[in-house]
Amino acid sequence: MSTQPASLLVIFGATGDLARRMLLPALLGLEFDGLLPTGLRILCCARSELDSDGFRQMVEPSLMTVGQADDPAVRRLLERMEYLAIDLGEASEFDRLAEAIRRLRDGNVLFHLSTAPSWYAAICEGLNRSGLVDEDCRVMLEKPIGHDLSSSREINDGTGRAFAEDQIYRVDHYLGKDGVQNLLALRFGNALFEPLWNARHIEQVQITVAETVGVEGRASYYDDYGAMRDMVQNHLLQLLCLTAMEPPSQFDPAAVRNEKIKVVQSLRPIRGHDLAGHSVAGQYSAGAIDGQAVGGYAEEVGHATGTETFVALRAHLDNWRWSGVPFYLRTGKRMPRRVTEIYLQLKRVPHSIFPSAAAQMQPNALVIRLQPEERISLSLMNKTPGLDRNGVKLSEVALDLDLHNAFEDKRRRSSYERLYLDAIEGNGTLFVRRDEVEAAWHWVDEIIAGWHDSGLRPKAYPAGTWGPSSAVALTERHGHSWRE
Ligand code: BG6
Repeated sequence: MSTQPASLLVIFGATGDLARRMLLPALLGLEFDGLLPTGLRILCCARSELDSDGFRQMVEPSLMTVGQADDPAVRRLLERMEYLAIDLGEASEFDRLAEAIRRLRDGNVLFHLSTAPSWYAAICEGLNRSGLVDEDCRVMLEKPIGHDLSSSREINDGTGRAFAEDQIYRVDHYLGKDGVQNLLALRFGNALFEPLWNARHIEQVQITVAETVGVEGRASYYDDYGAMRDMVQNHLLQLLCLTAMEPPSQFDPAAVRNEKIKVVQSLRPIRGHDLAGHSVAGQYSAGAIDGQAVGGYAEEVGHATGTETFVALRAHLDNWRWSGVPFYLRTGKRMPRRVTEIYLQLKRVPHSIFPSAAAQMQPNALVIRLQPEERISLSLMNKTPGLDRNGVKLSEVALDLDLHNAFEDKRRRSSYERLYLDAIEGNGTLFVRRDEVEAAWHWVDEIIAGWHDSGLRPKAYPAGTWGPSSAVALTERHGHSWRE
């Protein structure tokens, strides 16, 4: 496969919400800093009947959220773009696409599929039939890759008939976040943590991705997917992989992804009797966020439904490093605040020499906050100043690192800036390999099937709370508490 940067980026689904909110602004971010290859052309494809000028006028306002009307970078980016109205359901339309691609291409091509996933296989096969795929092409696919294992296999088989696996770049935008990549830097750029990063020293791990938003105009997609498929199958399991994986020998696509897949493969199935004690599904009812009343999920989607908007799991990794350590995973919409965080609680000291401080003694904990701000905090027990007439007193104090302050001179990049640049340049390290996607589906499918077979319905939780009370029981039953 060629490692030359792409000369042409072809975006399918270019008038969609993702393109306008994330993709085009990310390309502008790269344009600002002169990071797009000189001569890169961008062919934007969608069904809407527009010409190139009409398209540029339509997308200009979304670029204005990043740039300014008279910014030369905005003009340069718009000049790179052409628009092609195309109905991909018509095989003959690929001829027009082929003509445009042959005219614009001057080397490698990156195709970016930002359409409904049900189109992925058909688009890749159409590109292939039209002779548009060769070893100098790559394809970027948005999540979700399927709705379950079997549909993800169909998509992977279909795309795999046109492109080799190392030409396929499956996006999980969490991997494009600086904070998420910093997990690797923290673990493998410091000697401090590795000796403690295992079942001998860690009592429990919590991974939380909480959102305050509801389904935001995506009701029909979301109602078909729910939190398990929308968030756990991808973002939460990727965070779990980076937290739990063995050190890769180098920071390259094969080495990193070989370690991540081992984590997913060592996830213990949650099934049978374990299902009730290890998984909780919830759905928000009416409540309040930040003092504002908000409706329930059923009202938002317009009908009663059994889709979960919250999931909490008690997962285990059956491997040497993590044997016996619970990994609590939790994600939900309409939670009290937006936070993405990984919390590792260490074991208690084996023997306390401070009986007078028994009540204050807490286990050490490392908190890696990824959103809304990036922060790393290590809580430590310290002596409370004083004369200790009744014995030593201890207090918990945190070593707290605010990464925004530490790097205040650095521009924060959106996930898609990083992911586009990597895909344009042919670096797949931060993209998800087929075996990872399928192993993740295998694990979540079994839980969803278990819920279905046992008639388990999501439990209601008022918007603005941390999920149903059974989520609290999931941890408390084992002497642990959610960090809130
Ligand atoms: C998307 C999900 O993948 O991630 C959305 O489909 C979710 O439902 C979003 O809101 C969260 O992403 P972020 O970057 O805002 O944490």
